[in-house]
Amino acid sequence: MNLGIKLVVLVLSTKVFRSWCLNFTYTTFYDSNIYDFNTNNSYIVKNAIQVTPDVSVDSISDMSGRIVYRQPLKLWRSEGESGTDGRAVANFTSTFVLNISPKDGPGGEGLAFVLAGDAHLPNNSHGQWLGIVNSSTNGTARSPIVAVEFDTLKSYDGDVDGNHVGLDINSVYSVKHVSLTSYGVNLSAATDITARVHYDGLNISVFLHWSNDTTGEQTRIPIFSTPIDLSEYLPEDVFVGFSASTGNGTELNCIRAWTFESSDIIDGRKRSLLWVWILIPSLVLFLVVATLALSWMRLSRGRIEDSYPRIEDQIEGANMGPKKFRLGQIRRATGNFSPKNELGKGGFGTVYKGSLLGDHDVVAVKRISKNSRQGIPEFLAEVTTIGSLHHRNLVKLIGWCYERRELLLVYEYMPNSSLDNFIYQDKSSMPKNSTIHLDWNRRFNIISGVAQALDYLHNGCERRVLHRDIKASNIMLDSEFNARLGDFGLARMIRQAEQTHHSTKEIAGTPGYMAPETFLTGRATVETDVYAFGVLMLAIVCGRRPGERINDDSNIVYMVWDLHRQQRFGSAADPMLMDGPAEEVERVLLLGLACCHPNPHHRPSARTIWQVLRGEAPMPLVPLERPPFIWPAMPPSFKVDRDITLGDDQLSLITELVAR
Ligand SMILES: *[C@@H]1O[C@H](CO)[C@@H](O)[C@H](O)[C@H]1NC(C)=O
Ligand SMILES: *[C@@H]1O[C@H](CO)[C@@H](O)[C@H](O)[C@H]1NC(C)=O
Ligand SMILES: *[C@@H]1O[C@H](CO)[C@@H](O)[C@H](O)[C@H]1NC(C)=O
Ligand SMILES: *[C@@H]1O[C@H](CO)[C@@H](O)[C@H](O)[C@H]1NC(C)=O
Ligand SMILES: *[C@@H]1O[C@H](CO)[C@@H](O)[C@H](O)[C@H]1NC(C)=O
Ligand SMILES: *[C@@H]1O[C@H](CO)[C@@H](O)[C@H](O)[C@H]1NC(C)=O
Ligand SMILES: *[C@@H]1O[C@H](CO)[C@@H](O)[C@H](O)[C@H]1NC(C)=O
Ligand SMILES: *[C@@H]1O[C@H](CO)[C@@H](O)[C@H](O)[C@H]1NC(C)=O
Ligand SMILES: *[C@@H]1O[C@H](CO)[C@@H](O)[C@H](O)[C@H]1NC(C)=O
Ligand SMILES: *[C@@H]1O[C@H](CO)[C@@H](O)[C@H](O)[C@H]1NC(C)=O
Repeated sequence: MNLGIKLVVLVLSTKVFRSWCLNFTYTTFYDSNIYDFNTNNSYIVKNAIQVTPDVSVDSISDMSGRIVYRQPLKLWRSEGESGTDGRAVANFTSTFVLNISPKDGPGGEGLAFVLAGDAHLPNNSHGQWLGIVNSSTNGTARSPIVAVEFDTLKSYDGDVDGNHVGLDINSVYSVKHVSLTSYGVNLSAATDITARVHYDGLNISVFLHWSNDTTGEQTRIPIFSTPIDLSEYLPEDVFVGFSASTGNGTELNCIRAWTFESSDIIDGRKRSLLWVWILIPSLVLFLVVATLALSWMRLSRGRIEDSYPRIEDQIEGANMGPKKFRLGQIRRATGNFSPKNELGKGGFGTVYKGSLLGDHDVVAVKRISKNSRQGIPEFLAEVTTIGSLHHRNLVKLIGWCYERRELLLVYEYMPNSSLDNFIYQDKSSMPKNSTIHLDWNRRFNIISGVAQALDYLHNGCERRVLHRDIKASNIMLDSEFNARLGDFGLARMIRQAEQTHHSTKEIAGTPGYMAPETFLTGRATVETDVYAFGVLMLAIVCGRRPGERINDDSNIVYMVWDLHRQQRFGSAADPMLMDGPAEEVERVLLLGLACCHPNPHHRPSARTIWQVLRGEAPMPLVPLERPPFIWPAMPPSFKVDRDITLGDDQLSLITELVAR
């Protein structure tokens, strides 16, 4: 039924209104705007249309150019069946800022606003022809055109002077012209002149405005107003735009801004008739579609896909990415999602172990719970963007499946589960693998691995990716106990699914791992990722959960900073880590504190972290006292006592995935 309504709206908007009305505004021109126009020798340079080429061309003498809006204007149409009893003509207003700068001597030849049957420039229309006509079409109706010329050269006897505005019909001979010299205006003085050409169906009027004072309508000087029936000279559909030329003398003919508005040319009587013509077929269409939809729903009750019919196209468009699985395949692999194969459970749904035949025998399948319909756009984003990431310290996404409202992600299977099962001292967290103890070398290796993964996400891949939820339970361990950062971005999807309808700012992350500014900005940045990584380093070295209360109210960051102040780093480390070389343990703790600096500007980048870990960059300076959290934060180059306030936009704020 939605489809029916959309169809009707589509029919209404494209078939009826769009083609009758042409409205657009360019307050300035950007290079990409060129695609809105048909051009001959015209370019967009320095935020202006250069109707004739600018000086980048060898010689700009004897040139002409034309640029018209790609979509034609419906200027008029016959009323009544016979087509003889009158025409409805559109009203329009074209307002543009022109700027003509002579290149040698007084300049020449001029610029014109045109309404033309032909979008293309006539051959040999340079010089006196102003790009409007040429010697063989002048005075004929072979390529119908009406132009308002801004002539900067007296090129034949009929021309008043080299500084006038005129109205031209199928010729360069003006049926009406007004010299601007008496107004004190010089067209070719490289100044901005605003011109407004208005047509009300009877008269065409030209107004100029040449001061830079923007008080508007009142200051526009009427230059001329002359009766004309445009429908007599022009076809029903005309192109609107500009033409210009240079001759022996040259100039740059620029248009710096342009607004065009036109009216709907259907009169009231016609309109009501039109409504009938539109309403009846669309009603019929609507009924047909609705009936079809209903019967289809009845036929396939309970097997309706979500309204993302093109989900597959969208994912498969990004080829080389993860593979698409059939639901049947995954059902077989996981024993029909048997509880026996459950690896873990979360707010998002459940993770199952599965065995596929083929390249990746054992996989982990994440089954997103069904009521997370909001997660579909994120699911798509994850599959297409994360699926293209390749790094040995990232959990690889092998495939996906979207069928019968099942949202499934297939990952590499990590035999050693996640880091949180190994590093904490409380026994409750070591149910299965309590015999395995992660020694210092393994822990350091894990920290290095995560640092590399983070550097890759922030600096190494095509699009910058923020993880937003770095924590021990998202660090998976492969058979060699190498770290594999997992669950990236998915965290966001999960939280949205869990959210009942609180429309608060979404604060991503896990308490204990979240940078202090997150609570103010509610945004994820590279700096908040680095903070979470800092907390993770401290947690790995100390063997304590970041949220864990240690004697007083202080969390792990406060605790380690306190030990740093007392210069007693030895006691912070896990007592089981006797094999860790003291300097290395201390280095990781210091680096962890540097990452947890309350001022995000002082935190090292992921690249720096990795270099410090390898001993290739010096350790960032870590003050003995934890500096107070001050917001807005000062970048390091500013002296604290200067009275400069910086907004949070001084940080490299990036939400989600940001293209670079
Ligand atoms: C207009 O200005 C140009 C450039 O400043 C000058 O060369 C030309 O003589 C002026 N024309 C008139 C009609 O004042
Ligand atoms: C004038 O322009 C028309 C249309 O572009 C073209 O057919 C004709 O050859 C041109 N005449 C001359 C003299 O170039
Ligand atoms: C314009 O001239 C070029 C060659 O100078 C020719 O190829 C082209 O067909 C002409 N266009 C028209 C419309 O006569
Ligand atoms: C104008 O552009 C059209 C299409 O790009 C081309 O066919 C035509 O020859 C051009 N005319 C001139 C005079 O450059
Ligand atoms: C152009 O055509 C008009 C007739 O519309 C004629 O009066 C005029 O002299 C012609 N101009 C030139 C330069 O031939
Ligand atoms: C407006 O023009 C005057 C001189 O004509 C110039 O002094 C002033 O700076 C201009 N103002 C703007 C905003 O361009
Ligand atoms: C058109 O202009 C003429 C003068 O040229 C004027 O008498 C007439 O009222 C105008 N018509 C409209 C509709 O503005
Ligand atoms: C073009 O300019 C040159 C010198 O600048 C002059 O000798 C020549 O007569 C001019 N030609 C025309 C057609 O104005
Ligand atoms: C175009 O602009 C005119 C005048 O401002 C306005 O009446 C008309 O509704 C606009 N049409 C569209 C489709 O925006
Ligand atoms: C054009 O404007 C005139 C008055 O400015 C108005 O009477 C006429 O109905 C308008 N025509 C259309 C087709 O909107």
